[in-house]
Amino acid sequence: MKLLNVVLLLLPLSLCLAEVVDDFTESCPQFFANPYHVVSPPTGFTGDRFRKICQTLNNKAEFATLYDTENRIPVYSAYRFTGLMKCKRRMGNWYIEPQLESGTLGPNMATESAVRKQGVNIVNQAVNGDYKYSGYDKGHLAPVFHATSQNCADATFTLTNAAPQAAMFNRNTWMRTEKSMNDTLTKSCLNVGLRAFVVTGVVPGPDTLKNEGRVRIPSHFWMAFCCLDSNNIPRRSGAFYGKKDDSVKEKDESVKEKDESEKEKDESVKEKDESVKEKYESVKEKDESVKEKDESEKEKDDSVKEKDEFVVYPRSVKNMETELTQLYKIHVNNIPDFRFTLFAGECYTETEPMEKQLVVKASKRKKGTKDCKPNKCRKL
Ligand SMILES: *[C@@H]1O[C@H](CO)[C@@H](O)[C@H](O)[C@H]1NC(C)=O
Repeated sequence: MKLLNVVLLLLPLSLCLAEVVDDFTESCPQFFANPYHVVSPPTGFTGDRFRKICQTLNNKAEFATLYDTENRIPVYSAYRFTGLMKCKRRMGNWYIEPQLESGTLGPNMATESAVRKQGVNIVNQAVNGDYKYSGYDKGHLAPVFHATSQNCADATFTLTNAAPQAAMFNRNTWMRTEKSMNDTLTKSCLNVGLRAFVVTGVVPGPDTLKNEGRVRIPSHFWMAFCCLDSNNIPRRSGAFYGKKDDSVKEKDESVKEKDESEKEKDESVKEKDESVKEKYESVKEKDESVKEKDESEKEKDDSVKEKDEFVVYPRSVKNMETELTQLYKIHVNNIPDFRFTLFAGECYTETEPMEKQLVVKASKRKKGTKDCKPNKCRKL
């Protein structure tokens, strides 16, 4: 680490295409809002463990990430939103950041195997093996869904832009949140001539993947945006975060989980009974109940992850800063005067309240309850 710092310092800035950088505002300012002409990366994090990455693929920087090399997850990724481009989700290899390991390595993100081939030990970041068989998705911070180009979409598939995310949350609630963000930013910002900047981050929680102590599992996911007019005056802002649902008791893995899967079996039997009745009513309904059975099979597989129930809440940027300051103070930085600031504390002009649909429980759409049939819930 120390050697790396020396190497970086010795590199003249003009030659520094490197994406592990000293200063976001010099190396890739284009990904940060600049209210009143001041480029404003979120503030509050200092120390060697936090590394600034201008995420570069094919010699083009696509977004920026502040990476925590101790927890091996990002603190945040920042990008400009320019509307949906319908980029393809190419689920190939995930990249890693070579320069987190050695400052002499190239400026582009690279696959783990390509880096290992050069005899480099990967210690300062998560690798694919950390996630394998962990039961968690690699959850994007800068989303592929918001990417401005195919190169940008591909560049989001770097482990330095990912944090462990429960599959249900990743594929349902957070995806809906990203969609809702598109609607808000398109309508409230892009369509009225504003430039939209987004920062999305995580708060590290108490657990690590497979209890190996390497990659920390977040307790919160958050997103905040700031929209500026052509004079760089902030016009719109908003935020929301997903946090573990406290109303859901952490389940005792072995005992309660078993009980639940028994119950689920009972339910699927009941569903079968019902489907017999429904057979006489309509063929289409029967097809649906078959699908339902498949889903309840799948749910059984996912039951380990059910303890990670997340709920998404809208916030003003100001409230978001206050809450994140508390959380980061406890979970990351035990500094008394620690203060987390988004957008240099200059973007508090709120949009209309974020759409109500954001406040939807991930769990609600999954299982049938008395007042909510699964096939109805699915439409939520
Ligand atoms: C993105 O938002 C715009 C504006 O609300 C909307 O027209 C468009 O359908 C949205 N795209 C997706 C994929 O949700």
